[in-house]
Amino acid sequence: MAITFEQVNFSYGAGTTLANPILHDINITIADHQVTAIIGQTGSGKSTLIQHLNGLLKPTTGQVIVDDLIVTNTTKEKQLTKLRAKVGMVFQFPENQLFANTVLEDVMYGPLNFGYKTDEAKQSAQSALKMVNVAENLWQKSPFELSGGQMRRVAMAGALASNPDIVVMDEPAAGLDPKGQAELLALVSNLKEAGKLVVFISHQMDHVVSVADQVIVMQDGHVAAQGTPADVFNRDIDWFKSVNLDLPRAGQFAEQLRANGVSLSRRPLTLAELATMINEEYEHE
Ligand SMILES: Nc1ncnc2c1ncn2[C@@H]1O[C@H](COP(=O)(O)OP(=O)(O)OP(=O)(O)O)[C@@H](O)[C@H]1O
Ligand SMILES: [Mg+2]
Repeated sequence: MAITFEQVNFSYGAGTTLANPILHDINITIADHQVTAIIGQTGSGKSTLIQHLNGLLKPTTGQVIVDDLIVTNTTKEKQLTKLRAKVGMVFQFPENQLFANTVLEDVMYGPLNFGYKTDEAKQSAQSALKMVNVAENLWQKSPFELSGGQMRRVAMAGALASNPDIVVMDEPAAGLDPKGQAELLALVSNLKEAGKLVVFISHQMDHVVSVADQVIVMQDGHVAAQGTPADVFNRDIDWFKSVNLDLPRAGQFAEQLRANGVSLSRRPLTLAELATMINEEYEHE
């Protein structure tokens, strides 16, 4: 169930005089059963990239391969149905993906669309709503009466209800309070445990470090780096400035310590790792 981008270029309005080239020469592989985080400054092409994962956008040139399905510029809408059953997608602005009269109906839409019977769809929707902690007293409300964070959870339930093998989330932590963010990270870990491939976009480097196996860094529509969090977050500090990204908190502390003369062999990913490293330094003295 891996995902591969081969030589993908994408322009909004391709073939028109308003063609706006956004993605350039994207060659990436996203491994199965892993969590991949996509990071990069605003406007770097993250949302554009992930909308290729369920065929909402098709490459202008090149191809995207999801498991055994190949999407190119000429792939027809009908051929995308199989892909959409494989990939659950939570968009950056979840209010744009909600539409039904009630929360429950909204979440049932996916399963019904993929051929579940009404009872099965209802059961799947209810368990998805429980999985993302949407309280039962909200299930019969209009999704548009909810807060931003609640809407995001409902959109997430909608993506999960038909049990897709791949879950793609565009800034899923946006609008969630700290408890909601912790629950989201736990959900991502649970999805991975359940054998799913998870891709998420984040501006919070500590979230990336806590759940991602792989990181893809976007800059100006190019892939600027790809690797494990340890690889990516140990890059040169000037490189981080060049892609306008922050380090995780522990990395920021480590840089401050370095600036004050403390020598550290590597840049820690977490505060616990930083504490261990400092202890080791003192033991050697
Ligand atoms: N529908 C569209 N039509 C034309 N241009 C678009 C469209 N959507 C996005 N763009 C342009 O594509 C570029 C990349 O946008 P994208 O939304 O992929 O960035 P992003 O990395 O997700 O940013 P953010 O972190 O702000 O969400 C931007 O220059 C944006 O203006
Ligand atoms: Mg975006």
